[in-house]
Amino acid sequence: MKNMVAECENPHVRKFEGGFKGIERCWRDVGARMLPVVHSLNEISPDPQSLAGKLLSQFIAYRESLFWEQTYSKADHVVGDALLSGYAFSEITGQLGPFISNQLRSGVGVWGANVEYPMHWHDAEEIYWILFGSAWFQIGRDQPKSFKKSGEIVFVSSSVPHFFETRDEPLVMLYLWQGGDLRQVSEFERKIS
Ligand SMILES: [Fe+2]
Repeated sequence: MKNMVAECENPHVRKFEGGFKGIERCWRDVGARMLPVVHSLNEISPDPQSLAGKLLSQFIAYRESLFWEQTYSKADHVVGDALLSGYAFSEITGQLGPFISNQLRSGVGVWGANVEYPMHWHDAEEIYWILFGSAWFQIGRDQPKSFKKSGEIVFVSSSVPHFFETRDEPLVMLYLWQGGDLRQVSEFERKIS
């Protein structure tokens, strides 16, 4: 992950590089936990030529050793059953991740086919970097949706509402967060009854 960020010329990604400095010196065992959607990684064949594909291969190989979690629960009434049964993320750097950082939250997220991540926002600025699959993104409340596929990068400025929906295959993304409360629970536009 560190190498991918270091070699990327995207100016938004460049802003996150400092967060990886010295990160390997501060490690802890956070244990392992599986969530059902992670099994969809079994269906994926990463591209062995690209850095993204190599990183994805590592996540697939170590998927059962990672700690997979979700930010929301049914009681929060902010996301529906389809998302709750169809997403998981594993923090790699951050306040709770195996590599401890108060500056950079990063990790890998897996979303199943045909799930919608409703419009939400948070103080941290964010990068989504698609490692596998594709999705329709909306960044900004009045902006049109745009289609993004494997290898593409989506930048979200601080507090800008954003949404995405997956298509007919799993979506795997690297995410990067910095600025604000790194474990902030996102604000959502609407409550789900
Ligand atoms: Fe976000």
